[in-house]
Amino acid sequence: MKTIFICLFILLTQRSFGQSPLLKDQFSFPLGASMNPRLLQENEAYRHLATTEFNSVTAENHMKMMMVHPEANRFDFSKGDELLQFAKSNQKRMHGHTLVWHNQVPKWMNEFSGDAQAWEALLKNHVQEVAKHYQGQVSGWDVVNEAFLDDGSLRPSIWVKNIPDYIAKSFQWAHEADPNAILFYNDYGQDGKPQKMKAILDMVQDLQARHIPIHGLGLQMHINISSNNAEIQRVIQQSSSTGLIIHFSELDIAVNPKNDSTFVYNETAKEAQKQKFKFIFDAYAGIPKPQQYGITFWNIGDRDSWLRGYFKRPKEYPLLFDDAYAPKPAYFYLTNTRKNEK
Ligand code: G3I
Repeated sequence: MKTIFICLFILLTQRSFGQSPLLKDQFSFPLGASMNPRLLQENEAYRHLATTEFNSVTAENHMKMMMVHPEANRFDFSKGDELLQFAKSNQKRMHGHTLVWHNQVPKWMNEFSGDAQAWEALLKNHVQEVAKHYQGQVSGWDVVNEAFLDDGSLRPSIWVKNIPDYIAKSFQWAHEADPNAILFYNDYGQDGKPQKMKAILDMVQDLQARHIPIHGLGLQMHINISSNNAEIQRVIQQSSSTGLIIHFSELDIAVNPKNDSTFVYNETAKEAQKQKFKFIFDAYAGIPKPQQYGITFWNIGDRDSWLRGYFKRPKEYPLLFDDAYAPKPAYFYLTNTRKNEK
């Protein structure tokens, strides 16, 4: 507790005397984080970092199907709106995540039965109601999330089963509902999975050939300190050579990917992590400027990481801020070493 207060004090005083540069001011592209409305409300240190260090917001969970469409005839935008309000009142960009996914689908959708027409009506209604609700207020949407398996085949889901062409249709519906939104396909783990990467590139080509509006690719970048740089670089190159806008949409760098219970987060691990962040930011800087949508971290502090919560990996430290929300070496590298990059 004492440490938390000391770190918070240092952070706040540094900021108020303008001694320490802020992350979001270092780059010519937006820098975001996925956020959680409960933490924004309850945790002052979290809210401070969310407000000062980032200029783009993604809802970690609160714009997903399960959250916004809990019953067939009821939408609940309350929590997503809270995040949007936070973004708006702090002059931050809001990125929409996500309209169509196989995960976090409400029970009623999973249990839905109907013919092809009824399924289409269900998904179209969902995509368009959500996109219309946020129309003009989000800069872009992850329209379809994680549709492919590592072998390049379409991931089995209620969507592909009932609406075989659901990817194209979802993009079309989203575009009709919010014609100015930048529409992304978002996925993870393309590095070292050439078939998955190829499937994504083929999909882009197919959509473009059919004049379906797709504008961007989200590369989630859930990587770890041992991820192969050359493979990541290849994925970035292949993705950006489509000419689409590129978002590193869910960046975190795991230091203990095998979930070793004896793992110690020592200086060596912190340095390796810093080097990997350096590589990622260098690689992003190499993407042509007009294609840079920004880099978004998946969560703010290590303690909030989905790797701890969802994956139950207690000894994981994948972000720029530690358990007390104090900045780590990678943070200082990004704010000090690179400060004239803009
Ligand atoms: O809201 C319920 C709560 O009522 C319940 O008591 C509690 C008990 O488990 O669960 C809560 O829901 C959890 C939800 O996060 C909100 O905290 C879910 O169990 C949990 O599964 C869910 O995890 C999220 C995960 O997506 C679901 O797959 C993570 O927070 C979120 O970080 C993660 O984000 C995804 C991106 O959307 C897509 N890319 C991968 C990324 C990491 O998995």
